[in-house]
Amino acid sequence: MAKNTLSFVCQNCGAAYNRWQGKCESCGEWNTLAEEDTSGSVPVSIRSKRKGRTFALESLAGKSPDAPRLSSGMSELDRVTGGGFVRGSVLLVGGDPGIGKSTLLTQATSLLARAGHRVVYISGEEAVAQVRLRAERLGLSDAPVQLAAETSVEDIVSTLSEGAVPRLIVIDSIQTMWTDTVESAPGTVTQVRASAQALIRFAKRTGAAIILVGHVTKDGQIAGPRVVEHMVDAVMSFEGEGSQQFRILRAVKNRFGPTDEIGVFEMTGLGLREVTNPSELFLSERDLGTPGTAVFAGIEGTRPVLVELQALVAPTSLGTPRRAVVGWDPSRLSMVLAVLEAHCGVKLSGHDVYLNVAGGLRIHEPAADLAAAAALVSSLVNAQLPTDAVYFGEISLSGVVRPVAQTPARLKEAAKLGFQRAVLPESARGEAGGDAGLTLNAVNSLTTLVAEIAARGSRRGESNAPAEKNATPARFRRGEG
Ligand code: TYD
Ligand code: MG
Repeated sequence: MAKNTLSFVCQNCGAAYNRWQGKCESCGEWNTLAEEDTSGSVPVSIRSKRKGRTFALESLAGKSPDAPRLSSGMSELDRVTGGGFVRGSVLLVGGDPGIGKSTLLTQATSLLARAGHRVVYISGEEAVAQVRLRAERLGLSDAPVQLAAETSVEDIVSTLSEGAVPRLIVIDSIQTMWTDTVESAPGTVTQVRASAQALIRFAKRTGAAIILVGHVTKDGQIAGPRVVEHMVDAVMSFEGEGSQQFRILRAVKNRFGPTDEIGVFEMTGLGLREVTNPSELFLSERDLGTPGTAVFAGIEGTRPVLVELQALVAPTSLGTPRRAVVGWDPSRLSMVLAVLEAHCGVKLSGHDVYLNVAGGLRIHEPAADLAAAAALVSSLVNAQLPTDAVYFGEISLSGVVRPVAQTPARLKEAAKLGFQRAVLPESARGEAGGDAGLTLNAVNSLTTLVAEIAARGSRRGESNAPAEKNATPARFRRGEG
């Protein structure tokens, strides 16, 4: 029996302390320390001094007997993994409860089992009957997936060591697993880490691919398993707004593939449907004819994705105006607002500002700056932007519109979806080539774009309300008083 060494372990980042304290000094979280036995996962009998055995050293050029990758039969999933599950690799899939992790993995395992591979699904959260019920609903009951509701890692490893090596094992979820080698309660950092270690060793030894499901905390961290992130070969996060049917699988870390690819799915009554052309989906419910919307021509991984940015700028009744953003980086929004104020004379300090990325997509590219600025100004001056235009470009702090990567791919996607023009950085015009199929409106500074939108606003003003003629400059200063 190992000597008990109790210490206090942060359940967020895994840092260990000798005594309890309110705040973890390592990650800065409050109230995350819990008492755990950290004597280690290796029993004393093994830890005792033993002579090391010798092992053979191999060359890089060796050949593996089988195909190193196993295609899941779902192209969106394969895109994110980099072409399929790699033999002997361990993948962590994180996401909010109820987002559809179990559904996705039930579908993937069923397709593989139908293709004749040995596939095992271990559920630590649901009873076998519940998993069956889901499979029935998905119309996958006939798939020869091997199913069990188990939580003991030792039992799982012994069971799976018998017979042919499974090609894929799903562990749903890692937080429910526990191992005899440590004494902490299931779900604690020590247990999660030790269980993951045992499963990873099994994968490397046998060549089976393992998928670990992990829960995510409110702030988007993979809870507890954050300490697992560096141990596994790949980390994917399954995201989406609960109220919307779109789901996005994103690679956060991948030792065998790119990390910026996304897979897009739609949750339907019959499970997850793959969306091979996300732009069509994200633009399917556009608010045509409303001010404050702009279509951003973005790139996610290797694929162009067109998505609508929606802005609302309204006079505030609060001392400090509100800035709320969904699907984009709030500090990026603050920067665009600051540039609009400082260089373009657009006063927003008296206005609440809301920005939303339609469809539940989360954008990480700075190239969205120009589209965001266009949507904001459009909402402020109440002028609709041309519905057949796409926008992309990064805005620098000096108000210059800077070039972004992959201009031709963005333009091609926009043309494919019937857009007529693109508002893009001046310096990207050359890269676009003559045959883009779109009218290119190159802007080199944000001021130019703001003036163009303001002109649309004033033209509108003339026809609707003659009294407001020449009122455009004043519109920008609505919030000053
Ligand atoms: P689930 O896969 O259980 O989520 P997780 O494992 O991430 O916690 O999915 C649960 C949600 O998905 C639930 O709210 C119902 C919904 N759902 C559908 O809309 N259609 C379906 O065919 C299935 C199986 C689930
Ligand atoms: Mg689940």
